[in-house]
Amino acid sequence: MMLRCATLLLLLAVALLAACDWMPGRPIRADAPKPESEVHEFDPLWSNYCSGCHGADGRFGPARPLNDPVYMSIASDDYLRNVIVNGVSGTMMPPMATSQGGPMTDQQVDDIVNGMREAWGTDASAKGAPPLQGKPGNAANGLVVFATHCATCHGAHGRGTPTAGSVVDNAFLAMTSDQALRSAIICGRLDLGMPDWRGQVGTRTIAASQLASPLTNKQIDDLVAWLTSHRVEFPGAPYPDTADVGSQN
Ligand code: HEC
Ligand code: HEC
Repeated sequence: MMLRCATLLLLLAVALLAACDWMPGRPIRADAPKPESEVHEFDPLWSNYCSGCHGADGRFGPARPLNDPVYMSIASDDYLRNVIVNGVSGTMMPPMATSQGGPMTDQQVDDIVNGMREAWGTDASAKGAPPLQGKPGNAANGLVVFATHCATCHGAHGRGTPTAGSVVDNAFLAMTSDQALRSAIICGRLDLGMPDWRGQVGTRTIAASQLASPLTNKQIDDLVAWLTSHRVEFPGAPYPDTADVGSQN
C-alpha cells in the first residue's frame, strides 16, 4: 500500500512538472528549432549538407575544396545548381534536391549557391582560366604533358612519390568522374598543395620550372584522357601490382 501510494505521488509529480510552462530552462516557442526545410542561412546549410565531404570551412575534406576563389570564379551558378540538384552519378556526390530524392528544397539550393559566393569570393586573376567543362582528349598526348607538368610530384607513371599520391590508382579513378579530374587540374587543391593550371597554389607560385607555361585547354583534355585510360573493368581488385611503386613510380 505504501509503495503504491508513493508510486502514485511520483507519477502525479511527474505529470505536474511536465505540464508546467514556467519551468526554468524550458524552451519558449521562439527557440524551438526550425524544420530543416526552413533553414536558409549559409552556415547551418553548409554544415548540415556539405561539410562532411567538402570540409568544415569548404576545405580539407575528402571531396574537392569549394572554398577556392579560382573554382568559384569559373563555376557558373547553373553549373553549381545542376551538380547540387542531381549529384554526380557513379560517385559519392549525392543528389541533394527533393525532386531527386535528396533533402534540400529548390530555395535551399539557391541559398547555398549564393552563400558560397558571398562567403568565398572570387579571384580576378582566374579570368584567363580554361573553361571548367572540357572535351574528350588524346591519351598519348596527355602522357607527354604529364611528364613535363605533373611527374615531379606524382611520378613519371603517375603512381605517386613522397610529395603526392597516385593519380592512376584504379579505385580512385573508379570513384572519380572525368569532370572532377579536370576540375583538379584547372583549380588544383588549394588545401593540399596541388597547383592550379598556371602552377599556383593560391597566390604562391610553385617553383618547379616545368610549370612555367600555363596548361592550355587542349592539354587539360589530353591529361584527363591519359588519366582515365587507367580505368579498369574490375576496380579495387584485391592484389594490386604495387611492387614497383618505390623504384619506377
Ligand atoms: C557524401 C559526400 C558529399 C556530400 C554530402 C556533398 N558532396 Fe559535393 N561532391 C562529392 C564528391 C565525391 C564530388 C566529386 C564527384 C566527381 O567525381 O565528380 C563532389 C562534387 C561536387 C561539386 C562539383 C565539383 C567539380 O569538380 O566541379 C560541387 C559543386 C559540389 N560537390 C557541391 C556540393 C554541395 C554544395 C554540397 C552540399 C549541399 C555537397 N557537394 C555535398 C561529395 C559530396
Ligand atoms: C607541386 C606538386 C604537384 C604537381 C606539380 C601536381 N600535383 Fe596533383 N596533387 C598534388 C598534391 C599534394 C595533391 C593532393 C593529394 C595527394 O597528396 O596526393 C594532388 C592531387 C591531385 C589529384 C587528386 C585531386 C583530388 O581532388 O583528389 C589529381 C587528379 C592530380 N593531383 C593530378 C595532377 C596532374 C594531372 C598534374 C599535372 C598537370 C598535377 N597533379 C601536378 C601535388 C601536385
